[in-house]
Amino acid sequence: MRSALKSVSVALATLVVSGAALAQDNKVVNIYSSRHYQTDEALYTGFTKTTGIKINRIEGGEDSLIERVRNEGARSPADVLITVDAGRLWRAEQLGLFQPVKSAVLESRIPANLREPNGQWFGFSQRARVIAYNKDKVKPGEIQTYEELADPKWKGRVCMRSSTNIYNLSLMGALINHLGEQKAEAWAKGVRANLAQDPKGGDSDQLKAVAAGQCDLTVSNQYYYARLARSDKADEREAAQRIGIVLPNQKTWGTHVNISGAGVLKNAPNRDAAVKFLEYLVSDDAQRYFADGNNEWPVVDSVKLDNPVLNALGDFKRDPLNVAVLGRNQPGSQKIYDRVAWK
Ligand SMILES: [Fe+2]
Repeated sequence: MRSALKSVSVALATLVVSGAALAQDNKVVNIYSSRHYQTDEALYTGFTKTTGIKINRIEGGEDSLIERVRNEGARSPADVLITVDAGRLWRAEQLGLFQPVKSAVLESRIPANLREPNGQWFGFSQRARVIAYNKDKVKPGEIQTYEELADPKWKGRVCMRSSTNIYNLSLMGALINHLGEQKAEAWAKGVRANLAQDPKGGDSDQLKAVAAGQCDLTVSNQYYYARLARSDKADEREAAQRIGIVLPNQKTWGTHVNISGAGVLKNAPNRDAAVKFLEYLVSDDAQRYFADGNNEWPVVDSVKLDNPVLNALGDFKRDPLNVAVLGRNQPGSQKIYDRVAWK
């Protein structure tokens, strides 16, 4: 027994000495993240507990973090970039910021349509772009598709945020894919003609405008609605009660879904630890923290959330389109919005 123990400790010592540099590399991972939710603490602590790898975190705005990695170039300490929207991950990919990762864990846990086909970046939670309506002005079932937002019957009744916003660019990317460029442009023109006001503010502002009766319809990511519904402010909860939610296109191509995602950066000093971190993100516990922090859905189907607002929306048909297409279509999307003068 004693000699067995001794030989184990000798073997360990050898391993530690010969692998000193490697071990050093694997003790830390540097994460640049545009996420900052309450559940993130538990998420990061869980990783360090499981792997012994320490996390250094830098939080910032989505676009400023991409700019920062770009400026730091080969000297960047960043290993992982976490950000939202496939369209934004695509931009970072276009700038050559990521390196491809091959991982059986990631490939088996994340559905193929929610990750970049060459492993440049991966989705870790899902969001849906839903139609929100004022319950006093619109009857349930009166609108069921994105296409119907362009119907002249809604003239002066639709609020939309700016077309330069990544969520609307990605939605257009999906419309181009499903309708073709011509019909997608006709749609944009129709929606533009239906606007109750010039585009301004974010998704929450559109929802509040709908609740206040400034317009009858808008589109928003579901988590902005969930934030209102779960708010600790009574007026926000009341606003949510005035809003009905439609999961569009259930009878056709499905509701447009997008992701929060991440990739390993090209100049990552701690590549192995970075891959381990991404693999940790698809574990059951991490999936719950990651999705629940922002009222999103996990990408791992078997992981169920205990989120009353999302659960009330129920199961729904999601657009099976690979989210990388949303990025690929982005230049065309912006051209269409510009041509129809949707600000
Ligand atoms: Fe958002």
